Amino acid sequence: MALVTTTEMFKKAYEGGYAIGAFNVNNMEIVQAITEAAGELNSPVILQVSAGARKYANHTYLVKLVEAALIENPNIPIALHLDHGADFEICKSCIDGGFTSVMIDGSKYSFQENIELTKKVVEYAHAHGVVVEAELGKLAGIEDDVKVSAEDSSYTQPDEVEEFVTKTGVDSLAIAIGTSHGAYKFKPGTKPQLRFDILHEIEQRIPGFPIVLHGASSVPQEYVKIINENGGKLKDAIGVPEDQLREAARSAVCKINIDSDLRLGLTAGVLQTLHGDPSIFDPREYLKVGRANVKAVVAHKIKDVLGSENKA
Ligand code: G3H
Ligand code: 13P
Ligand code: ZN
Repeated sequence: MALVTTTEMFKKAYEGGYAIGAFNVNNMEIVQAITEAAGELNSPVILQVSAGARKYANHTYLVKLVEAALIENPNIPIALHLDHGADFEICKSCIDGGFTSVMIDGSKYSFQENIELTKKVVEYAHAHGVVVEAELGKLAGIEDDVKVSAEDSSYTQPDEVEEFVTKTGVDSLAIAIGTSHGAYKFKPGTKPQLRFDILHEIEQRIPGFPIVLHGASSVPQEYVKIINENGGKLKDAIGVPEDQLREAARSAVCKINIDSDLRLGLTAGVLQTLHGDPSIFDPREYLKVGRANVKAVVAHKIKDVLGSENKA
């Protein structure tokens, strides 16, 4: 099977009340871990690449790694997606360079500017058989050196979504309902609560339209503990409760973005291995433990959070 767009995946996910996991990839071990888990569980999957990942690993290496994963896992649908495209140029480069889906993130612009930019990307992408995700509202947290403070973040306004999707022709929409990027999503002592009222209002305004949730890591405390016990220092790292993500997956949310949880699993494996036996200096010894953790995280998400097992 060749790489697919997300169109069919989202249609089935919407109708079936589940979501597709979109996992960030930065190197071979991460690509292997995600696709092995998805392959074994017969689940569709989205592999997403940020600008930072392209800078780190190089566009061609990442595309070829994903193509290798496709050969190793021929029975599951895999989409290759640009995460948080900042401008038309990076979207064009990924569309021309083998991606099947791109995100144009115009959330930092005014509503009208976001519409104009998104429309331009949609026109180019659709002419090349590629689908587009856009964002309305602003998430707090860190992406690619851009830090949005909690005060500058803002929920998506439901009364804007219909005009936005109609005028842009976009294929899916990322919304802000209380998630944020990174491992520090909520203040210690507070009760994390996503704004399902906003999500449901959006659902009613654009029925059948696929919604995307960014910043959806749950920050597994067992990995935070392992990291802190083995030389790391992650204080008060708190994520989105998984029962709320399960609830979101049953709604119009068709794509759930997870990166931080993979980072935590990988880092926990590496630190635990090296701390346990400081004589190790073969990278395969510690990376294979990190890779196994990432695979376990993805398998858990597919089975217990997203509901995409056996939906390939
Ligand atoms: O949205 C942020 C993702 O976790 C990607 O992070 O830009 O550091 O690769 P990155
Ligand atoms: P997390 O930091 O919660 O994993 O979010 C990842 C993300 O939204 C990538 O676009
Ligand atoms: Zn994101």
